[in-house]
Amino acid sequence: MSKNEIFLCNNCGNEFTKWSGKCQACGQWNSLTQVTSLAYPKSKQKNIFRSAKTAVLTPSKALTEAQAFTFPTKLTELDRVLGPGLTKGGVYLIAGQPGIGKSTLLTQLAISISPQPPLKLRGGEGGDTVLYVCSEENPAQVATRISRLNTTPSDHVHLLNTSSVEVIISSLSLNSYSLVIVDSIQSVFTDKNPTTAGSPSQIRDSANLLIQTAKETNTPVILVGHVTKEGTIAGPKLLEHMVDTVMELTGDRQHELRLLRGLKNRFGPTDETGIFRMTSLGLEEVSDPSRFLLADRQGDIPGSALALIMEGTRPITAEVQALVSPTTIPIPRRVAKGISTAQLQLICAIVSKHLKIPLSEKDVFVNVTGGISLKEPGADLAIALAIISSAKNKPLPKNSICFGELGLLGEIRRVSFQDKRIKEAKALGYQSIISPASHKHLKQVIF
Ligand code: TYD
Ligand code: MG
Repeated sequence: MSKNEIFLCNNCGNEFTKWSGKCQACGQWNSLTQVTSLAYPKSKQKNIFRSAKTAVLTPSKALTEAQAFTFPTKLTELDRVLGPGLTKGGVYLIAGQPGIGKSTLLTQLAISISPQPPLKLRGGEGGDTVLYVCSEENPAQVATRISRLNTTPSDHVHLLNTSSVEVIISSLSLNSYSLVIVDSIQSVFTDKNPTTAGSPSQIRDSANLLIQTAKETNTPVILVGHVTKEGTIAGPKLLEHMVDTVMELTGDRQHELRLLRGLKNRFGPTDETGIFRMTSLGLEEVSDPSRFLLADRQGDIPGSALALIMEGTRPITAEVQALVSPTTIPIPRRVAKGISTAQLQLICAIVSKHLKIPLSEKDVFVNVTGGISLKEPGADLAIALAIISSAKNKPLPKNSICFGELGLLGEIRRVSFQDKRIKEAKALGYQSIISPASHKHLKQVIF
């Protein structure tokens, strides 16, 4: 075996110097494959100091004007998540379930930024075209989507039908592009790695080469990433460390709403969420999500509670509905949509214990309308109040809204952005605001 040969685990992406039947890191059997290391070869390492002499050093002062390195995408909700916009040389990862709208969003992005005047990317060379690498779809499919989403022809979007990282890199060395989109990182491969496209080591090596090229050519590169059944980004965890920004497009495919959340951002904030609606004409930006989520609300009826939640730094009103009905089976049902079953079970236990509402003989169903999922603790109170309201068959106080985390002792705990939420609730005209500022315990909420 040559000194550059190593063994990579196809499951976790860890590397080893010796072969073994079982990966020492993740425990997977028969997952080690022999590959040639892409690391700097030992033979050349002795020249490392000599080559350092030729390296071009840039004074930090010349790089302080960060604005010059970023440009807006013109998609307001995407810019909100990105922070300043796209950064030249930045590598972005957009992950999401299949069919959620990643390709749609990126097609719209390509259309939206391409008609700009040439962006001065490489010392004035400029590049006004977008390279869309369709390794997953047929170029005709992408072209049809482009013409569907854009009434005027877009000559600026160039489609590249390849799965080879080397071909992508050579296209980048021949032309300047304002943006490169690789759809997806799981379907491209580099010849330097013998494993199949999509394996963790292949994803790692392909991403590595693309990142290197992005930095060298000062071109922003967006990689599309798949999500596994467990909801994590497919491939080695390392991928998330390697790129500059990680975003996740989430939503319920049966509903229109799509949320683009920033999970990591080296160029801007990570606590921002972009909100879109999937329509027949692609993703439409939703500037007033509360109005969209409450469009079909029946009013103040038993089992309905309004929650003031935060999506990033934006307060949003969502409706939580609960249905409490006598059970016909020995173990009552706890069915949740938009929240986790564990959270529902916990809130049912708190309500039963502290308010003496016998839920042990009742089925409890909870739904968050509009296909939104509530992940933040501030939604606890609304879930509890919707359940209590349905169990008592009494509506909550007229024109009321609530937020707060529930403790195991039934106490209502403070949550982030409390003042901002109260201000928003008042601005929206809610007369009764049930929050940790007004109520300290679930027992104090009387209706
Ligand atoms: P797509 O962007 O292909 O998803 P992904 O790349 O994340 O797998 O979008 C797939 C779904 O979006 C598909 O079911 C069709 C729907 N869609 C619309 O509803 N309207 C549109 O304008 C487009 C382009 C797609
Ligand atoms: Mg796609």
